[in-house]
Amino acid sequence: ILLILGLFVAAYLIGAICTAVWLGKAYYGIDIRQHGSGNSGATNTFRVLGKKPGAIVMFIDIFKGWAAASLANLLVMFNAIESDQLITFKLLMGGLAVLGHIFPVYEKFKGGKGVATLLGMMLAVQPEVALVCIVIFMIVLFTSKYVSLGSMIAALAFPVLLLLPRFNPENPVLIVFGFVLFAVVVLTHRKNINRLLQGEESKTTIKLGRRR
Ligand code: G3P
Repeated sequence: ILLILGLFVAAYLIGAICTAVWLGKAYYGIDIRQHGSGNSGATNTFRVLGKKPGAIVMFIDIFKGWAAASLANLLVMFNAIESDQLITFKLLMGGLAVLGHIFPVYEKFKGGKGVATLLGMMLAVQPEVALVCIVIFMIVLFTSKYVSLGSMIAALAFPVLLLLPRFNPENPVLIVFGFVLFAVVVLTHRKNINRLLQGEESKTTIKLGRRR
């Protein structure tokens, strides 16, 4: 139990690492939350600081979700859980990292929108489906030029794809959790949704190498 609780806390703390805010402050002397969309995430880093820092933030934020979910493997190694419970614990720990990213303890609980970290979790849990989601994200991004729209559609695509016979998981908890995390992503994108509806959402100007 102690190991489980300890790793839950670790997963949250990994997710809470404020990559965009800290990189912006340390190397560029600016608080990313006061520029662009005001979001502490990879998209806004691309927008405000450019491709290189944007890519760094994107990879670290994706890695946070992947690493937190993968910590669950330790629970099997130390016989704290059965191997058929692994997927549930990966989801819980990846989900905690996503929440950490959105509500980071280090920055007064004001973080990002959880998309890159969610992708990391998806890669750790269901890499094949995660890759299809990335392709869907790219297609929406390149056709609409809206990162936020691509993020939301890709987050929805994850549980929807799992409903298909080809990807249908043995454990249905994955599908339920996928829809819950999609709902979280919709909530964090409330302002984006309003802007999209009013035609005021900013379009991306970066042409290559953009993910979530
Ligand atoms: O990953 C966040 C993205 O979907 C939207 O970010 O900065 O355009 O609000 P932003």
